[in-house]
Amino acid sequence: MMRGENCGGCIMLEPSFTLLDSNKACGKLLRTRASKSGQSTPILLVNIGQLVTLRSGSGNSGPRRGRELRELGIVEHGAVLCVGGKIVSVGTMKEATRDSWIKKHSNKIREIDCSHKVVLPGFVDSHTHPAFISPRLTDFEKRIAGASYEEIAAAGGGIRSSIDSVRRAGKSALTEKVLDALNAVASHGTTTVEAKSGYGLSLDAELKSLQAIQVASKQWPGTVVSTLLGAHVVPPEYQDNRREYVSLVCEEMIPQTAKRKLAQFVDVFCDRGAFSEEDSLKILGAARQNGLQVRAHISQLTRTPLERVLSLNPLSIDHLDHVSDSDIALLARSNTMATLVPGANYFLGLGDYPPARKLIDAGAAVALATDYNPGSSPTPSMPFVLSLACTQMKMSPAEAITAATINGAFALGLAQNKGSLEPGKDADMVIFDVEDYRELPYWIASSRIDTVIANGTIIE
Ligand code: NIG
Ligand code: FE
Repeated sequence: MMRGENCGGCIMLEPSFTLLDSNKACGKLLRTRASKSGQSTPILLVNIGQLVTLRSGSGNSGPRRGRELRELGIVEHGAVLCVGGKIVSVGTMKEATRDSWIKKHSNKIREIDCSHKVVLPGFVDSHTHPAFISPRLTDFEKRIAGASYEEIAAAGGGIRSSIDSVRRAGKSALTEKVLDALNAVASHGTTTVEAKSGYGLSLDAELKSLQAIQVASKQWPGTVVSTLLGAHVVPPEYQDNRREYVSLVCEEMIPQTAKRKLAQFVDVFCDRGAFSEEDSLKILGAARQNGLQVRAHISQLTRTPLERVLSLNPLSIDHLDHVSDSDIALLARSNTMATLVPGANYFLGLGDYPPARKLIDAGAAVALATDYNPGSSPTPSMPFVLSLACTQMKMSPAEAITAATINGAFALGLAQNKGSLEPGKDADMVIFDVEDYRELPYWIASSRIDTVIANGTIIE
């Protein structure tokens, strides 16, 4: 780790060097010196064709809504310097490369030429389910032959058919699966991931899943936020006693998770065939009582009114295919993110997609995520989700990019450090081999990734 001259050990660059906010950068560096990126080589991205910073044009420090979703903060012919896993300066080439510090330390800096390329913040995938063992290929074939997601679940397939293998798996086997998923998302440009448990559905298997996520996250250069989804469905042994299962989640899973610091969030699948609104309120209430934050799967298959769930201040409500106009208005007035996961609509062959336009036009804050899971959305690719958002939900490319970066960061409570390229934030960046950001959703199912950098470490 490089030491500074006059800032108590943090990296202190010439004042002229930090173009956007030098004091903030310095404070952040002090607090994160011991992170896993502490040893990374300084990186200087130069000659960036299109540097998409996502810096707010209006100075708004909250989630992006309405027209703000289209403001990408683009710098032409830009440069970014990262030191110690943090962004130190962002600006035009002229501004960012004139500093004497660069010349003095040029032999220690890894310079990457980004001519004719686009640089974005790493994607923040704020909704994934990576703690599973096998793909669900029989369900896949059944759906192709005409059965619906709910019919398959009612016949014993679906989420319940993923339980046995997770319960039987050793922690290291499950960790390997989670790590495979993290590497897969990174290869598509994701550097921050929310990862849920939810296929163990017993106290031991849920805690094991969260431990697997924790171990895998330590081996991955990106950032992982974990979520207990013990309330994914009622497991078969509680089929006739769902109340007892809800008690198990509230009285054992949530307190144990909180006590062992295994997750930051509790999620619930609130829908027909899973948990009722009453069950969900109980579960999310128990989470809050145990000091955990909440988020929820709602209105994927059937409509659930949002008012009572919103009163618990979830950071995000996800899916929202069947959300009503009055609930869209409620969301727009709240601080809760509306997270849309169109990969699930695509894979399940649902004709209708969530009403992204209505949500955006009403003023709701919208994020996009993969919902990576074996049943409804087996994709690790945020660029594919961007394509779906544009072609199926009529979001503009700029709106989709904002939803997949800074608003994803807000959906996880990480916007102080993630989701935009600004001094003091984590050095999470993706170099794309395209000349215009609109090409990201344009080239379908085609990887244009050149390099992925997470917390200052080059991973792809
Ligand atoms: O978000 N809806 C609930 N959970 C997942 C599906 C999980 C599965 O089918 O394995 C989802 O779509
Ligand atoms: Fe999900």
